[in-house]
Amino acid sequence: MLAIAPPGRDAGRVIGSNARAQAMSRTRYVIGNWKMNGTRQGAALLARAVATGVGARRAASPGVVLCPPATLLAAVAPELGAGRVALGAQDCHARPSGAFTGDVSAEMLAEAGCRYVIVGHSERRTLHGEDDAAVRAKAEAAHRAGLVAVVCVGESLAEREAGRTAEVLARQVDGSVPAGSGAGDTLVAYEPVWAIGTGRVATPAQVAEAHAGIRARLGARLSGGAGISLLYGGSVKPDNAAELLALADVDGALVGGASLDAAQFLAIVAASPG
Ligand code: PGA
Repeated sequence: MLAIAPPGRDAGRVIGSNARAQAMSRTRYVIGNWKMNGTRQGAALLARAVATGVGARRAASPGVVLCPPATLLAAVAPELGAGRVALGAQDCHARPSGAFTGDVSAEMLAEAGCRYVIVGHSERRTLHGEDDAAVRAKAEAAHRAGLVAVVCVGESLAEREAGRTAEVLARQVDGSVPAGSGAGDTLVAYEPVWAIGTGRVATPAQVAEAHAGIRARLGARLSGGAGISLLYGGSVKPDNAAELLALADVDGALVGGASLDAAQFLAIVAASPG
C-alpha cells in the first residue's frame, strides 16, 4: 500500500491569487510521448487529428507537443498544422556526431524539425542505465542544438515508501538540469516511476508537494529557475487531467498512453487552463 505523503503547506491546494499570478507567467504545455509505438500511416493520422483538434479550439491552447519515435518524425512533421503543434523527440545523444551506433544527436533532431526533446525519462534511466550526469549532458546537447530539453525526474515506489521522495527529487534536479537553464530552453517533468503506465496516478496532494519542492529547488539553484514550466506525468487521462492541471505549480502534463488516442489526448488539452 502506497504511503500518502504528508501534505506540505500548499499540498492539494488549487491555485490561489499569488500563485495564480506566478503560474500565469509560465507557459503551459501538454506533451504526448508516444514511446515505441506507431506506424507511418497511423502516426500521420494521429498527428493530423491532434493538429485539427487543437486548431478548432476557441479557447487559448497550451503549447502542444508530439514526441513520436525517431523513425516517424518525418511522417509526423508535415501533419502539424503550420505550427499549431510542435514536434519533439524522446531522447538524444550527448554528442553532435560520431561512432555511436544506434544513437541520434540533438542536432539531427533539430534538422528533422524538432523543437523539443525529452531527456532522462525513467524508462531511459532504468532500462538504459542513464544517471543524472548522462541526463544533464543530453540536456546540454539539446541546448547546444537549440532545442528545449524536457528533463524528467521522479522517485521509484521503494524510494517513496522509504520517505526519500524529496531527497531523490532534489538530487535529480540538481544533477540533471544544466546550470544556466531557464524558461526558454528547459521544462521539467515530474513523473513518479510508480505512476507511469500503471493507471496509478499520484494524488493531487502528492503532486502538489513534489512540484512545490522542485519549484523551490530550481528557484534556489538557477537564476531563471522560477520561470521553468513544471509538468506532471504518470497515468494522466481525461478523467483526472482537470484536477491535476488546476494545481498550483503544475504547468502542464506529459502524457504517455493517452497520447496514442486523439480523442483522449485532445480531452487532456481541453482540460488545461490554457
Ligand atoms: P503514461 O506515461 O501516461 O502512460 O503513464 C507517461 C510517461 O511515461 O511520460
